[in-house]
Amino acid sequence: MYLKRPGRCRDIQRSVRTNYASASQTGARVLWFVLSITQGNGVFHGTESGCSVCMHWRRENVQPCAACLCRFSTPYSLANGVTLSRPSPEHSRMTDPDLSVQVGRLSLANPIMPASGTFGQGAEFADYGDLSELGAIVVKSLSAHPWAGNAAPRVLPLDEPDSMINAVGLPNPGVLRWSASHLPALLRLGARVVASVWGHTAEEFIEAATLLAAVEGPIAWEINLSCPNLNRANELFAHNVVLLRQLLLELRSVAGPGRQMWAKLSPAVPDIVAIAAAAAEGSADAVTIANTIPGMLVDIERRQPALANGYGGVSGRIIHPVIVSLVYQVHMAIPSLPVVAAGGVFSGVDAIEFLMAGASAVQVGTANFADPRATHRVLNELREWCRLHETNPRDLIGAAQSPIR
Ligand SMILES: Cc1cc2nc3c(=O)[nH]c(=O)nc-3n(C[C@H](O)[C@H](O)[C@H](O)COP(=O)(O)O)c2cc1C
Repeated sequence: MYLKRPGRCRDIQRSVRTNYASASQTGARVLWFVLSITQGNGVFHGTESGCSVCMHWRRENVQPCAACLCRFSTPYSLANGVTLSRPSPEHSRMTDPDLSVQVGRLSLANPIMPASGTFGQGAEFADYGDLSELGAIVVKSLSAHPWAGNAAPRVLPLDEPDSMINAVGLPNPGVLRWSASHLPALLRLGARVVASVWGHTAEEFIEAATLLAAVEGPIAWEINLSCPNLNRANELFAHNVVLLRQLLLELRSVAGPGRQMWAKLSPAVPDIVAIAAAAAEGSADAVTIANTIPGMLVDIERRQPALANGYGGVSGRIIHPVIVSLVYQVHMAIPSLPVVAAGGVFSGVDAIEFLMAGASAVQVGTANFADPRATHRVLNELREWCRLHETNPRDLIGAAQSPIR
């Protein structure tokens, strides 16, 4: 595996091995995968999680959240002088908030779901949390026929914390094999499945959608428009308002009027509002903002791109503020168009930020590679925050919207 700092490779492999092994054995360890190792001097940092009371980040192995002196916590001191905090009785008495949200005409029990391509194809993450607790599960993008994806290396950590670049290339078993071998397990576990669809051409999109239309179970389709269109010199569907609108209208005629269709957009556009408006005109019920940001790494020793594919997509914490601003712009300009946000969500705080910027639901992506319980943790942190603030996600949607001078 190529790394920008080759000296870290052994640390990463060792810690991944150790932590994946211990996670599957105890079922309780949080994994802090390659991304956290890119911090500091390459030493594995241990696990992190948010303080359940005030949401400040802390290192689990190092203890405590001394910052957690919010009005619902009771600070107490350990013999070694360290201050910890526990929820006060007042906090414990608070009732669980109603986390339900609407995304268009679709009702979800809560707004938190994993992002496509980061949570497996089916029930792979079932050992790490009850899949029925999540608002939905967006599965890896599906094409009409099986697709192998790109050659390795296709995923690399960045030096920036909790961030990575990938050019996986959408490998998947195809709609038919997926619906026979992966979907049943998800449905048995009570998951609410969002099927993600892609193609190399408009015809391939239609073919995949036609196959999917015959599959019972998914509550919505997410159309992954960040695909190079082979008929148009690899231009992304998500970069061309005319093609995007036309493709969505054709997909609508396959999907039928009742099917919930989300258009997943690319963040790398000069005018996200124009693209979102075109998606709405193309009959999308919601837009997912956003896919990865195009990027590239160079292996300077080999004098060639580090990813086998050359270009890739940047994801994780580094892209979060960029995506918050896109969500904000679209919700400000088209408040009637629901937004599902994706980009660098690692905590309940990140999700709340997206809701306040105008998102109706929030996807957790790269964080799942660091911690297979990340999506559940984000949900728990959101619930706890709402409990403490005596509010609910519906009241947070667009709460930060005010004209920017
Ligand atoms: C390894 C990897 C694979 C991905 N595969 C898909 C995919 O199949 N379909 C899709 O629409 N998005 C895919 N994405 C994009 C994510 O769904 C998400 O939009 C993006 O990573 C931003 O969210 P994040 O910063 O939380 O990861 C993938 C992302 C990563 C990192």
